[in-house]
Amino acid sequence: MSKMKSLRALAFIVPAFALPAFADLLISAPTVADTPITFKSVSVTLPESDRMFPGPGADPINNNCLACHSAGMVLNQPAMTHDAWQAEVNKMINSYKAPVAAEDVAGIVDYLVKTKGLN
Ligand code: HEC
Repeated sequence: MSKMKSLRALAFIVPAFALPAFADLLISAPTVADTPITFKSVSVTLPESDRMFPGPGADPINNNCLACHSAGMVLNQPAMTHDAWQAEVNKMINSYKAPVAAEDVAGIVDYLVKTKGLN
């Protein structure tokens, strides 16, 4: 065998002996199962939401007025008269193109006057 050929043979033989040695290392390494996973229950309190209009008579306003802003945004406005609330609802419909069901408009204005009305 020439010197070159025996070197090539070594290149195959050495890994053949070395690999089982590495495999031993892998098997003896600590595995995940040594530290078992435990699940614990937690309790989370979510913040109160001001996204919906509260209270009785809120269905018409909840059904028509929450597509673009929260209830909190509306309820944080200053109190207004019946006429001013009517104009506000008209503005939402005419200027901002709010898709409000015609039969719900009176109920919406009633709710707003009852909740944030000014006499
Ligand atoms: C199509 C979207 C849309 C819908 C639906 C909508 N609004 Fe608005 N609303 C707006 C926009 C836009 C503003 C202006 C927000 C701003 O200036 O930051 C606004 C502002 C308001 C304000 C604050 C005062 C003002 O004039 O800026 C009130 C009150 C209000 N809306 C009430 C309502 C009520 C009541 C309804 C249901 C009838 C409604 N909105 C439905 C888009 C909408």
